[in-house]
Amino acid sequence: MKIAVPKEKWANEARISASADSVKKFIALGFDVVVESGAGDAASISDADLSEVGATIASSAAEAVSDADIVLRVQRPMTAADGGDDEIAMMKSGTILIGTLSALSNADQAEAYAKQGVTAFAMELLPRISRAQSMDVLSSQSNLAGYKAVLDAAHEYTRAFPMMMTAAGTIPPAKVLVLGAGVAGLQAIATARRLGAVVSAYDVRPVVKEQVESLGGRFVEVDPDATEDAETAGGYAKEMTDEYKARQAEVLKEALIKTDIAICTALIPGRPAPVLIPEATVQEMKEGSVIVDLAVEQGGNCPISEYGDVVVKHGVKIVGHANVPSRLAADASMLYAKNLLNFITPMVDAETKELAIDWEDEIIQGCLVTRDGAVVHPGLSPAEEKAKAS
Ligand code: NAI
Repeated sequence: MKIAVPKEKWANEARISASADSVKKFIALGFDVVVESGAGDAASISDADLSEVGATIASSAAEAVSDADIVLRVQRPMTAADGGDDEIAMMKSGTILIGTLSALSNADQAEAYAKQGVTAFAMELLPRISRAQSMDVLSSQSNLAGYKAVLDAAHEYTRAFPMMMTAAGTIPPAKVLVLGAGVAGLQAIATARRLGAVVSAYDVRPVVKEQVESLGGRFVEVDPDATEDAETAGGYAKEMTDEYKARQAEVLKEALIKTDIAICTALIPGRPAPVLIPEATVQEMKEGSVIVDLAVEQGGNCPISEYGDVVVKHGVKIVGHANVPSRLAADASMLYAKNLLNFITPMVDAETKELAIDWEDEIIQGCLVTRDGAVVHPGLSPAEEKAKAS
């Protein structure tokens, strides 16, 4: 059985889907591993690091992938329409593709996997259940993004974070407001606290209040009664009513005009990011304050943030870096690779060392996009079947 690790070709992508540790463990499980030359360079993982633990180095993606049983990727494969080589056509029929495929927003690509006979698993669709925690790529990457967002804010901010009492005068601590206290937000709170800031946070899900407080943050309340129903069974946020949104805008505006730094992490799966800092609020924020918008790829919690750029608008620095986990490529790759190893390990029969996938398993079913030449994920089926499945 052969696992292939091609180099990621997307702009702003420095991660690799394997590490020396994961390669070593895959080989112990009975796999051969082939890595495209240079795949780990941008993540400080050299060809030599990988070949030392037993990987074979291939000179091109096609060479690595063409006879692989499993292909590991960070992002979805490119096609000619994306301006690259057709990385789907490189795979033989029967290949298993595993990666963060953004499957629900790339229905055409799912059709192409099916046509090619590729069995695709989209890791972003992994169920958020305890048994799947060690495979959860969204958590491992968001956690790093939350940390890096605070460092990016500190880098752009023209003042210090901690209170400093010096002979020349006292510097007050920075005030940080974290919007959205999921995986990224909670890490942002912890990081900003460690740097000495005074931190508050807001989320529509009321269960988060205790978690924010346990990290030393103050929870900003909007309307506790209205948020009783703010969470889906899967633990995600729901879209709120217009009435709640108006009240929320008022409360957040009050908080934001007193804030030095806002870290935006609020997301609603399958929907545009909620607008929490409209331009009118930015106009009233303090000169020199900083907004880091981690939601920029989904339209932003601040609609005037710009994807891939740092801009100054109304005297406020707005940071919209693309692909923030990739800005910590070494650690992000190490954790991502471990997530994939943990996902694949239960698929392998320990005795025969052959793949023995339990197709009925909740985790397998949750992220399976295509199988046997067909698109099988309910989120990609025709509307009437989608309605039945939800
Ligand atoms: P996410 O990335 O989808 O959203 C980030 C945060 O934004 C969430 O906390 C959400 O409530 C918040 N948000 C959405 N709309 C908002 C609004 N209008 N105003 C303010 N905040 C808003 O969520 P993430 O971080 O991926 O976590 C989602 C859930 O999954 C959480 O309940 C988390 O505890 C749970 N989880 C479970 C895991 C497991 O058991 N395997 C692993 C990781 C997370």
